[in-house]
Amino acid sequence: MIKIKTKDEIKKMRRVGKLASHLLDYITPFVKEGVSTQYLNDLCEEFAQKNNAISAPLNYEGFPKSICTSIDNVVCHGIPSKDDILKDGQIVNIDVTLILDGYHGDTSRTFLIGNVSEDVRNLVDRTEKAMYKGINAIKPGKYLYEVGKAIEKYISKFGYSIVRDYGGHGIGKEFHEEPQVYHNYTRENKILLKEGMIFTVEPMINMGKSYKVVTSPIDGWTVTTKDNSVSAQFEHTVLVTAKGAEILTKS
Ligand code: MF3
Ligand code: CO
Ligand code: CO
Repeated sequence: MIKIKTKDEIKKMRRVGKLASHLLDYITPFVKEGVSTQYLNDLCEEFAQKNNAISAPLNYEGFPKSICTSIDNVVCHGIPSKDDILKDGQIVNIDVTLILDGYHGDTSRTFLIGNVSEDVRNLVDRTEKAMYKGINAIKPGKYLYEVGKAIEKYISKFGYSIVRDYGGHGIGKEFHEEPQVYHNYTRENKILLKEGMIFTVEPMINMGKSYKVVTSPIDGWTVTTKDNSVSAQFEHTVLVTAKGAEILTKS
């Protein structure tokens, strides 16, 4: 069942969405060569606490940290560590989810560390564009698969691949609600969009030809590309409005 949010819930989702976007703005100047992902994690945790919010990932199904930090070939769910020091030429996705007043706001961006190769910079730019193509396809009365269709149409010409095993999701009182949002075109998303639905759009795009991913058997969380190619991701939480979509995590 896909929940239609009430006016009051939408207010709360706007508030937590804004706070999550402010958290990414706040962390941005710290995301540079030489810092550990653990340090970024700790700054985010401190920000959450100062703002009377909760870091949703911490202890979520046993996840051990407050944010996800996914470097280079890590697709998603990278675990912050003091041993992961950001290096020149890398990219890192920082995915934050806050809970405020019982509601979740989920957003991520991919950051460039120092001098990143043109190929990888293009991947990052195009992944962000792909997310907006998906968001711009949202309209009540249309099917949810228009999101994946728009992303696929844009991304396919670059020879990249769209991750299938992980997608966007409804969000509200729960971190992950229905529906599952695919970032490729599939009939599984033949779901009518209605005003008041809230979900994330968060394409993970692999530079290589394979959309396949592998989960670390060691930590049970870290998802990497099967071919070890670099992968980028951006994420917003969006509300379906009468006109289209409102981005709740816009900075
Ligand atoms: N924030 C991620 C998402 O966009 C989910 C992270 S789950 C965690 O859905 F447990 F890894 F934190
Ligand atoms: Co999400
Ligand atoms: Co997220």
